[in-house]
Amino acid sequence: MNKIVITGSTGVIGRRAVHELLAAGHRVTGVTRSARGRERLERLGARAVEADVFDEASLRRAFDGADAVVNLLTHVPSADRMADPSSWEENDRVRTEASAAIARAAQSARVQRLVQESIAFVYADGGDAWLDEDAPVAGGGVTTTALTAERNARELFEGDTVVLRFGLFMGPDSGSTRAALEAARGGASIAVGPPGAYRPTLWLDDAAAAIAAALRAPAGTYNVADADPPTNAEIDAALAAAVGVQALRPRAPQDGPLARSQRVSSRRLRDASGWAPRMRAGTEIWGPAHRIAA
Ligand SMILES: NC(=O)c1ccc[n+]([C@@H]2O[C@H](COP(=O)([O-])OP(=O)(O)OC[C@H]3O[C@@H](n4cnc5c(N)ncnc54)[C@H](OP(=O)(O)O)[C@@H]3O)[C@@H](O)[C@H]2O)c1
Repeated sequence: MNKIVITGSTGVIGRRAVHELLAAGHRVTGVTRSARGRERLERLGARAVEADVFDEASLRRAFDGADAVVNLLTHVPSADRMADPSSWEENDRVRTEASAAIARAAQSARVQRLVQESIAFVYADGGDAWLDEDAPVAGGGVTTTALTAERNARELFEGDTVVLRFGLFMGPDSGSTRAALEAARGGASIAVGPPGAYRPTLWLDDAAAAIAAALRAPAGTYNVADADPPTNAEIDAALAAAVGVQALRPRAPQDGPLARSQRVSSRRLRDASGWAPRMRAGTEIWGPAHRIAA
C-alpha cells in the first residue's frame, strides 16, 4: 500500500493516523473541509485535499490513484452534551450517509482496500467471558450507526474491507479521559455500568498503530483494545490513586451499550498483523509517565 487517503484526518485519531502512516513510509493525503485542516495536515507532512464527505463525486476525485482509503470520520459530542440525543445527529449522519458515499467512491476509484472505524461497544453483555469478533452483537444507542457504517463498508465496496472496532479512546486529548479526570478530582466516577463490568479501553497511540496494521492484515473485522481490558472498578481505583482520593463515588445506574460488560479480545488483530497494545490504557494512562493527572 503506497498512497493512502484518510477521511476524518484532522480529528483526535486522524492526526495520529496521519503521523503513523507517514512514519511507516506511506504517502498520505488527508481529506479536510477547512483551511485550518489543510494547514494542520501540511504541518504533519501530509498532502491535503478538500472534499465534501457526503458527496460521492467529490470523494471520487479525492480518492483518485489511492491504494487504500481509511475512514475515521466521527462527530462525537463533548461529555457534557452526550445525554442529549440531538447532540449525536451529526455523528449519525457521518456514520450512515458519509460512510456510504465513501464506500461507493472508493469502489468507483478502484481502491484496493477500505479501512472503516467502528466501536467495540457493539457486543451484548458478556459478563466475565472473553468476546471475540464472532460474539453476539446487541448494538443499540450510539453504536447502531457504527454498525451501519460497518455494513456500508462491507457491502458497497468490493475490495478488501477492514473494520476496526476500537475501545474507548484514552489520551490527553480524549474528551472522555478529560471528563473522567475532572469528575475524579471532585471525588466522582463517570463509569457507566456496574463496578465489575469490563470496559474495552485503548491508548490513542495504540489505535493509530492498529490503523497501520490494518493495511497489512487480511480483510475482516478486528477488535482493537487493551490486551486485558480492565473493569470499571479497576479503572476507578487507578484514577482515584492518581488524583489522590481514597475511592470514587459511583454514578447512578445507566442503560445502554456502555453499561454492558465487554471483555473484548483483540487477539485476532495481534495474530494477523503483529500489532499489540503498548499500554493497558484504562489503568495505566493516569500514571505520571503520561502526565494526564499531573
Ligand atoms: N472510540 C472512541 O472512544 C472514540 C471514537 C471517536 C471519537 N472519540 C472522541 O470524540 C471526541 C471528539 O473527537 P475528535 O476531536 O476527533 O472530533 P470529531 O468531531 O469526532 O471529528 C473527527 C474527524 O471527523 C471530521 N468530521 C466530523 N464531522 C464532519 C463533517 N460533518 N464533515 C466533514 N468532516 C467531519 C473532523 O473534521 P474537522 O476537523 O473538519 O471537524 C475530524 O477530522 C474526542 O474526545 C475523541 O476521543 C472517541
